[in-house]
Amino acid sequence: MSKSVRGVVARAKGAPVSIETIVVPDPGPGEARVKVQACGVCHTDLHYREGGIGDDYPYLLGHEAAGIVESVGEGVTEVAVGDFVILNWRAVCGDCRACRRGRPQYCFATHNATRKMTLEDGTELSPALGIGAFAELTLVAAGQCTKVDPEADPAAAGLLGCGVMAGLGAAVNTGNVGRGDTVAVIGCGGVGDAAVAGARLAGAARVIAVDLDDRKLEWARRAGATHTVNSTSGDPVEAIRELTGGFGADVVIDAVGRPETYKQAFYARDLAGTVVLVGVPTPDMTLELPLLDVFGRGGALKSSWYGDCLPSRDFPMLIDLYRQGRFDLDAFVSERITLADVEAAFEKMHHGDVLRSVVIL
Ligand SMILES: NC(=O)c1ccc[n+]([C@@H]2O[C@H](COP(=O)([O-])OP(=O)(O)OC[C@H]3O[C@@H](n4cnc5c(N)ncnc54)[C@H](O)[C@@H]3O)[C@@H](O)[C@H]2O)c1
Ligand SMILES: [Zn+2]
Ligand SMILES: [Zn+2]
Repeated sequence: MSKSVRGVVARAKGAPVSIETIVVPDPGPGEARVKVQACGVCHTDLHYREGGIGDDYPYLLGHEAAGIVESVGEGVTEVAVGDFVILNWRAVCGDCRACRRGRPQYCFATHNATRKMTLEDGTELSPALGIGAFAELTLVAAGQCTKVDPEADPAAAGLLGCGVMAGLGAAVNTGNVGRGDTVAVIGCGGVGDAAVAGARLAGAARVIAVDLDDRKLEWARRAGATHTVNSTSGDPVEAIRELTGGFGADVVIDAVGRPETYKQAFYARDLAGTVVLVGVPTPDMTLELPLLDVFGRGGALKSSWYGDCLPSRDFPMLIDLYRQGRFDLDAFVSERITLADVEAAFEKMHHGDVLRSVVIL
């Protein structure tokens, strides 16, 4: 039977979000309905509200979530009612050209629920990143539910579902940071700080955090940065070179996604080093670089989608490290709020007052 619950909806481009009654259908074949316990506020939710991602209003926002499986549809074997799960936006298909070549982290046909959640008048909702978890219940493909240790705090665990995984994976998976490497991270929001923590976990010898805001640099130190650079008070490329024997870092991660930060990342890396772009640029941005420098400096210029993660492989492992006290996921939870506070949380994010506000349901 379908159920009516409360959810946070963006009805029109640029308009403040509102709490609406949403109708969540029974799970269809291969689908699961999840009782959401916690959901983080990500920059991407704000992008949806502002029309930066698409025009498929109304959107049901929220996608960094953890909760309990409430019911499952026909043929679901991945999860069962009562399982504690983190929701993911990479339920791999197993059948596309990437999956068939053994690279499921690039799956080009990931699964979402096919049944539609609606407003009371029947208007279909577009769930953010195929999730829509600023709601008491949500409907997803069963493969979007990754079962993890139920002892984990849902507010912290849910953050692995997007930003924290993207940043950590940018360092560990895409950048392939290893023991003894020097790493620089430009932009220390939730994503950048997760990259800092990932570099630290992977055994980096030096982790240099760069931001414009001293508060953010302080938080980056807590995440594991060994050095910090405020780029309002000097050239960050020079500062990173100075901190790396004059050479530059082995891996530089751009967690902002602007032409100027990308250029800093490009020139702040050592010869044969790696640049990882995880911040998301906007369509108006272009990049100009001397092609000779691209050639002459060698190495790899990579982009990272969702930290090249495989939820089934990475979420349970990271929750174990968290539970063992080796990865401080709690540090990313700046405040706990209600569904009614999402609009205010966007404002705080905009002003850099939080790493993550987390809605508790
Ligand atoms: N690739 C992915 O799969 C993926 C997933 C989630 C989020 N993202 C993207 O990652 C980016 C960061 O997300 P977030 O949640 O950490 O955002 P955020 O707004 O919390 O953090 C951005 C940080 O960058 C800093 N900054 C801005 N301009 C700077 C500059 N010129 N130099 C140095 N620092 C600068 C800000 O002070 C802030 O601390 C966003 O673009 C987001 O859309 C990507
Ligand atoms: Zn696939
Ligand atoms: Zn996100």
